[in-house]
Amino acid sequence: MDKILIVDDDERLCRMLTRRMQRQGYDTFSACTLLEGLDKATTDFFDVIFLDVEMPDGDGLEFLAKFKKTPSSPEVIIITGQGDPDGAEKAIKNGAWGYVEKPDIINEIGLHLNRALQYRREKKRAQMVPLQLKRQNIIGSGREISYCLDLLAQASVSDISVHISGETGTGKEVFARAIHVNSCQAANNFVVVDCASLPETLIESTLFGHVKGAFTGADKAADGLVKQADGGTLFLDEVGELPLNTQKSFLRVLQERSYRPVGATQEIFSDFRLVSATNQNLEEMVKAGTFRKDLLFRLQAFSIDLPPLRERVEDIKELVTYFMDKFYRRYGQTESKGLGPNFLSTLVAYDWPGNIRELSQALEQAYARAANSPTLFSYYLPEVIRINQARRLVKGKPHSGASQDSINPTAELPTWREYKDECEKEYLNKALLQAHGNISTASNMAALSRTRLYQLLKKYELLE
Ligand SMILES: Nc1ncnc2c1ncn2[C@@H]1O[C@H](COP(=O)(O)OP(=O)(O)OP(=O)(O)O)[C@@H](O)[C@H]1O
Ligand SMILES: [Mg+2]
Repeated sequence: MDKILIVDDDERLCRMLTRRMQRQGYDTFSACTLLEGLDKATTDFFDVIFLDVEMPDGDGLEFLAKFKKTPSSPEVIIITGQGDPDGAEKAIKNGAWGYVEKPDIINEIGLHLNRALQYRREKKRAQMVPLQLKRQNIIGSGREISYCLDLLAQASVSDISVHISGETGTGKEVFARAIHVNSCQAANNFVVVDCASLPETLIESTLFGHVKGAFTGADKAADGLVKQADGGTLFLDEVGELPLNTQKSFLRVLQERSYRPVGATQEIFSDFRLVSATNQNLEEMVKAGTFRKDLLFRLQAFSIDLPPLRERVEDIKELVTYFMDKFYRRYGQTESKGLGPNFLSTLVAYDWPGNIRELSQALEQAYARAANSPTLFSYYLPEVIRINQARRLVKGKPHSGASQDSINPTAELPTWREYKDECEKEYLNKALLQAHGNISTASNMAALSRTRLYQLLKKYELLE
């Protein structure tokens, strides 16, 4: 039986919660001071501890780490009469499972407890099962992505609902599929619901199905996507796009796992594992009243936030090798291409607003433009990336018209030759930038022959 401890100086509240928890079959105890609570937690084994903040013998938050370190490493839920954002941050940083205000705890203690206990059970199971993760072509071994892969492994061994957030192109769908493939639902369907493209009028019947004659054109009964996911995984992609009334219907499905197809009188069941994803800020949407708080709460039982590519540049080389290998086979070429001198540094310096999708498309474009050339020069990359690189190179370089003020008198003086080369390179970069990488235009603007311009670009390794 799960064991619960409530540490709160409000004796009436303790009695009320204890009675309620005992009625629900939990072995429940309470303590009125931090020291009494800590003593109980050290000598007995608790699964969840509800811990008050303002206690007669100190601040509950200061004791949080001590409670966490007791032999049963319990899940601790901070309960507070007066919630404040700093307290919430401190609680989470110190390993609290949750931070809940007292009115919410009184109304929803069962919900908070269930989630914490479910997490605890999954955690124990995950620790017992050494998982051989099938990475499903998720490339990268840097710190950021490795952390996300750890979360993926933890999520996969349970059937907890997972919410994946991240900018566009960061791999949310790839992760959702990998969760399915690594889970015990893998033998059944992975059903994608693209919430952004559900037709408004058919949304309920697409999700929940309909009976024959339910509406004009419903000449036969149809299963909805929710039924197709029975025994498998339902992936709600772009979940922020679900209209509010569908959010309400969906919440019920998540709570009951049963629902009524359009026009039906009988409820039907579907036991699916839910994974959702979005690049929108759902918390902000909750504040704006466009997303239901209770639904968000259900979706986010377990969250994975995928990092943007610019924050995991250490993976770019590995990703480039992976994609180049893919294109080399796709284009049926006999030899793979080498990379030009500035190719990788150009990729690393770019911001990648479209993340891995943009990287893959940029590489494919470069690959196609390079045609039979054995080397992939950055010249073949999309213009926006080359302009970024050219701008970066120009920025901060010595300028021929530089004022006396900007010359550092203590810096070592370059030789005339070095200085001239530097200026020449800067000029060529500018010319390329203004000509948008077009050599003919640049040679016209610079009043140089194309041959001469080529020679100079080659000399400064700008010919890519
Ligand atoms: N870690 C990765 N390794 C290799 N390829 C990846 C990785 N992550 C994403 N991709 C590739 O990048 C592309 C975009 O991934 P995906 O569709 O999963 O992104 P997304 O986050 O769902 O984007 P959006 O928000 O636009 O729907 C896909 O082609 C996918 O195969
Ligand atoms: Mg997607």
